[in-house]
Amino acid sequence: MIRAKLPKIAWGSGLYLHDTDGKVYLDGSGGPAVYCIGHGNQEVNEAIKAQLDRVAHGYRYSFTSDPLEELTEIITRRCAEGGGEGLDRMVFVSGGSEAVESCLKIALQYQSARGEQGRRKIIARQRSWHGNTLGALSCSGFAERREPFEGALLDVPLLSPVNTYRPPVGVPANDVAQWCADELEREILKLGPHRVAAFIFEPVVGAAGGCVPAPPGYAARVREICDRYGVVMIADEVMCGSGRCGTWRALQHDGVVPDVMSVAKGLAAGYMPLGAAIYHRRIGEVIEDRYGAVSTGHTFTGHTAACAAGVAVQRIVQREKLVEKVAAEGPLLRELLVQAMEGIAEAGDIRGRGFFQAVELVKDPETREPFPADLQVHLRVRQAALARGLICYPVNGNVDGKCGDHVILAPPYNVTRAELEDIAGRLGEAVRAVIVEVRKAGPSHS
Ligand SMILES: Cc1ncc(COP(=O)(O)O)c(C=O)c1O
Repeated sequence: MIRAKLPKIAWGSGLYLHDTDGKVYLDGSGGPAVYCIGHGNQEVNEAIKAQLDRVAHGYRYSFTSDPLEELTEIITRRCAEGGGEGLDRMVFVSGGSEAVESCLKIALQYQSARGEQGRRKIIARQRSWHGNTLGALSCSGFAERREPFEGALLDVPLLSPVNTYRPPVGVPANDVAQWCADELEREILKLGPHRVAAFIFEPVVGAAGGCVPAPPGYAARVREICDRYGVVMIADEVMCGSGRCGTWRALQHDGVVPDVMSVAKGLAAGYMPLGAAIYHRRIGEVIEDRYGAVSTGHTFTGHTAACAAGVAVQRIVQREKLVEKVAAEGPLLRELLVQAMEGIAEAGDIRGRGFFQAVELVKDPETREPFPADLQVHLRVRQAALARGLICYPVNGNVDGKCGDHVILAPPYNVTRAELEDIAGRLGEAVRAVIVEVRKAGPSHS
C-alpha cells in the first residue's frame, strides 16, 4: 500500500493551498469536489463570523433562524428555476451521509404515512457511493469500503452500473439506458412492488464511477417506473449537485424531478459542514398529515452558522453566475483534459459534465482491461500530482469494486482559464510519469 505522510495544511486563498512547509498546491478537484468557490473567501468568512457573534446555533426544537429560512428560500427558488417546482421542504444536516440517511428515512416514513408499511426495501446500484453511515453504506456499491462491514449492512439489491463505457455484459452501449431502467423494473417486480420503498441513484456517478453521467433517457424512464410502482425516486446529488454539472440540480439536465434529493459538498463549499435532504411538497404533505413532521434530524440539524455559510456561498454562486459559468466552460475543461492526455493510450475514457470531469486509466485501451489493483495506479497518480503541486481526486474500483482507476477534476467554479490550463497540464505530466512507471512494471503483472 502506498502510504505517504500527509503535509500539514496552513492556509488557502482562491485555488491555492499552502502547507506549513511553504509548499503551494493548485486545487484542481476542490478537494473531493467540495470547494466550489475556492479557499479563503472573505465574504463567506465574514458572514460566518457575524453569525457566530450573534449566536452560533439555535437548537431546532427551540428556534428557527434567518439563515435557515433564507437558505430554504434560495434552494426552493433554485430548484423551481430548473423545473423542480415543489422541492420546497428540507432538513439541513452536517454532510452528505447524513443527508442520504435522511432521504432514505423520509422515503420510508412517506410509505408508512400512506399506509404502505410493507414497503421497506431500498434499491440502489453498483459502482455508486452514498456515504459512510450504515444505511448509506448499505446502498453503496463500493466493495472496498463495504468489505469490513459485510454481514451487518441492510439487504439492498444493487443493480448494474449505468455506464456506456462499461455496459452490462452483452448490452450494446446504445441500449444501456433502456436496459438498465428495465433492470430496475424487473427488480421491483421480483421483490414485489408492495415491498419496495425507494430507488436511490447518483444522476452523475462521482467517486465510485468517475464522473459517469446517466445516458440520455435513463432518468426519465426511471421516473416513469417509480411512478408506476409507487416507488420513491431519490437523487443523490451530494457530489454532482449544487451547480457542479452546470445546472443547480444535476437531474435538471435530464428534465426530471425526483421525489427526494440530497445535496452537501458544494452547498456551503467546505466553509462549514452542511448538507440537506430536500423533498417534494407532495411527499411532505403526506408525512405531515399522518405524523406532523419528518422523523429525521440530529442535534446540529439546521445549525445556524452552517446555514449562514450556505447562504453566503449561494449568494456568491448566484451573483457571479457561477453555475452558468460552469455550463459554459465545462466543454473547455473537457477539451483541456483531452489535450493533456494526448498520446497516452492508457487514457481509456474521458467523461463527465460541467466542472466534473474524469479520465479512466486502463491497461489495455482496446479491451478496456483495467490495471491490476495491486499496481495502485490511482495512488501513484495522487502522489505524482502532489509532487507537481496539484490536488486531483484519483479513485479505484470503478470496474469491479477493486480494479479500475480514474482521476477526477472538479475545480472551483470561479477558476480562471489560465488556472484550468495549468490544472490540466500538471495532471497530464503526472499521468504520463505514472504510465511510464507502470508500463515498466507491466510484464510481471500481465
Ligand atoms: C454521491 C455521494 N453521496 C454521499 C456522500 C457522503 O457524503 P459525506 O462524505 O459528506 O458524508 C458522498 C461523499 O463523497 C457522495 O459522493
